[in-house]
Amino acid sequence: MLTNDELAKWDRESFFHPSTHLGQFARGEAPQRIVTGGEGVFITDRDGNRLLDGFAGLYCVNVGYGRPEIAEAIAAQARELSYYHAYAGHGSEASITLSKMVMDRAPAGMARVYFGLGGSDANETNIKLVWYYNNILGRPEKKKIISRWRGYHGSGLMTGSLTGLELFHKKFDLPLSQVIHTEAPYHFRRPDPAMGEADFTAHCVARLEELIAAEGADTIAAFIGEPVLGTGGIVPPPEGYWPAIKAVLDRHDILLIMDEVVTGFGRLGSMFGADHYGVRPDLITCAKGLTSAYAPLSASIVGQRMWDVLMQGTDENGVLGHGWTYSAHPIGAAAGIANLKLIDDLGLVENAGTVGRYLVETMRAAVGDHPHVGDVRGEGMLCAVELVADRDKRAFFDAAEGKGAKVVAAMLKRGVIARAMPQGDILGFAPPLCLTRAEADQIVSATRDAIAEVLG
Ligand SMILES: Cc1ncc(COP(=O)(O)O)c(C=O)c1O
Repeated sequence: MLTNDELAKWDRESFFHPSTHLGQFARGEAPQRIVTGGEGVFITDRDGNRLLDGFAGLYCVNVGYGRPEIAEAIAAQARELSYYHAYAGHGSEASITLSKMVMDRAPAGMARVYFGLGGSDANETNIKLVWYYNNILGRPEKKKIISRWRGYHGSGLMTGSLTGLELFHKKFDLPLSQVIHTEAPYHFRRPDPAMGEADFTAHCVARLEELIAAEGADTIAAFIGEPVLGTGGIVPPPEGYWPAIKAVLDRHDILLIMDEVVTGFGRLGSMFGADHYGVRPDLITCAKGLTSAYAPLSASIVGQRMWDVLMQGTDENGVLGHGWTYSAHPIGAAAGIANLKLIDDLGLVENAGTVGRYLVETMRAAVGDHPHVGDVRGEGMLCAVELVADRDKRAFFDAAEGKGAKVVAAMLKRGVIARAMPQGDILGFAPPLCLTRAEADQIVSATRDAIAEVLG
């Protein structure tokens, strides 16, 4: 058995961690946690801590940790057929069954599902399909993609460009020129505090119209957005936002890609955010909740009007030149099947709605009046607490003070993991969908006590 110290040393010396301050980590100045196990909503680490994971990993372990049904499905698949590719009409029983299960749950109007590995590659696929679509329709100029500031869509070249967070652009020569950004639907940070939600929606729509007019609708292919902004701050849209945006897109013949990597398969208390907000996208991006992260798998769900053009494209040009070695990997597919069955059997979509609402309401009651809490918001099993220097003036703390990170560290001491969201002093919560009310109470009391410790 290795000692903690040996592993910790190897970690600092050998492991290039994603989204990490490399220098601080290598020098031993940044924290390190070696996770050893998980059960329900709790993880354990090698130092003997048992922590309530209020962020479900990276909002992905939707059914909770340690589900034997999924572990056994993965093991059985590995024994029977660990791998075969999906090119040129090949498939496995698992990948075909999962495709049927996904389409049975997908919003109306969707035609096929393409499987990849993670959210970034699924968005990459979707952008390529959009470009292919417009080339087949003889519109080679119609290629730009509109994303929102504070949107998160991955960290590849194209997907990092779509992401509207400075951290993911700075020093990487991003965004690429085909990507343009519009206003974030972030009511709490509205330019004019007097704006109600409906006014702010009208403002976002006007900004979108201005951007389309400035660039020319014949140069814009698609609009991409998360139903609820995730990494950008966990922000549900203002009243009427999605139907109003969709009406603009329809008027200009611009496709809608809904990035449901976080919201897909139940997190909002509905199977998909598209249904939750009553809009029909052309493409839906899924990952995380598809397998609850028991194995890597993503899905690009393609709507009928795009599918018809893609088929026309291969009739005219031959085989679609797009695919990954691990597309529709049987082990990921087996995990997906067992995961979707569990979500149904345990009623987790409904639980996300009811316990999620309870979490947001109890959080609001516990910290909503604190002088340094500006906003408590949420939808389904997503919740955020935004910290401010001055409530009345809606003044934010200096980022260098790291107030959000300090509160999150104080919560860890109390056995609860929250996420310090990357842009602003925002505490993020996205627990597994199986959270109970008692566990929600534990998250809320740790938040209240940590805020009191750090901010008085
Ligand atoms: C909305 C959204 N899209 C895409 C991604 C990228 O997914 P991945 O990290 O699996 O590449 C994420 C990851 O958090 C996400 O939240």
